[in-house]
Amino acid sequence: MIEFFLPDAAATDALGALLAQTQPANAIVHLQGDLGAGKSTLARAWLRALGVAGAIRSPTYTLVEHYPLSGGGKALHLDLYRIAGAGELEFLALDDAAATLWLVEWPERAAGALPDADLRVELAVAGEGRTARLLGGTGTGTDWLLRMSKTVACDALLTR
Ligand SMILES: Nc1ncnc2c1ncn2[C@@H]1O[C@H](COP(=O)(O)OP(=O)(O)OP(=O)(O)O)[C@@H](O)[C@H]1O
Ligand SMILES: [Mg+2]
Repeated sequence: MIEFFLPDAAATDALGALLAQTQPANAIVHLQGDLGAGKSTLARAWLRALGVAGAIRSPTYTLVEHYPLSGGGKALHLDLYRIAGAGELEFLALDDAAATLWLVEWPERAAGALPDADLRVELAVAGEGRTARLLGGTGTGTDWLLRMSKTVACDALLTR
């Protein structure tokens, strides 16, 4: 587990970039936290850092947005807040084998129907800023956190 204090939205962006730079080739990430905790901010910064150039919309109503990645592969950004039930996931074409990165907001709304998370990011409001707790859910996830913790960018973010 690694915990960060993110004093402003720029710090959330920096965490998104750090995760993009250190992520394994395939990763399933659950983004948890209340309304306004910063899940979409983190996802947007992450996708930008992976080279996504066009508009990055919050999938509030579409439930899912697809992004081809320049390095090959494909990212899925999901926001399941408005999903009617776990069964609705089947209609979102999530069986796409090309999906290499999953960024899932409100995963708890489709509990049991989503693949297990390699990494869970728990965001919470803390005064004017946010806290982010990163928890590995698989061997891939714990290796990732260890690798990330050894980077200079991680140190810089921890001392903000
Ligand atoms: N570390 C931070 N400190 C202060 N404000 C932040 C921080 N990170 C993000 N914000 C701000 O919080 C607001 C809400 O962020 P965001 O839309 O990412 O939340 P969300 O968790 O996706 O919410 P929802 O559940 O409604 O989708 C935005 O105005 C964003 O700029
Ligand atoms: Mg959001």
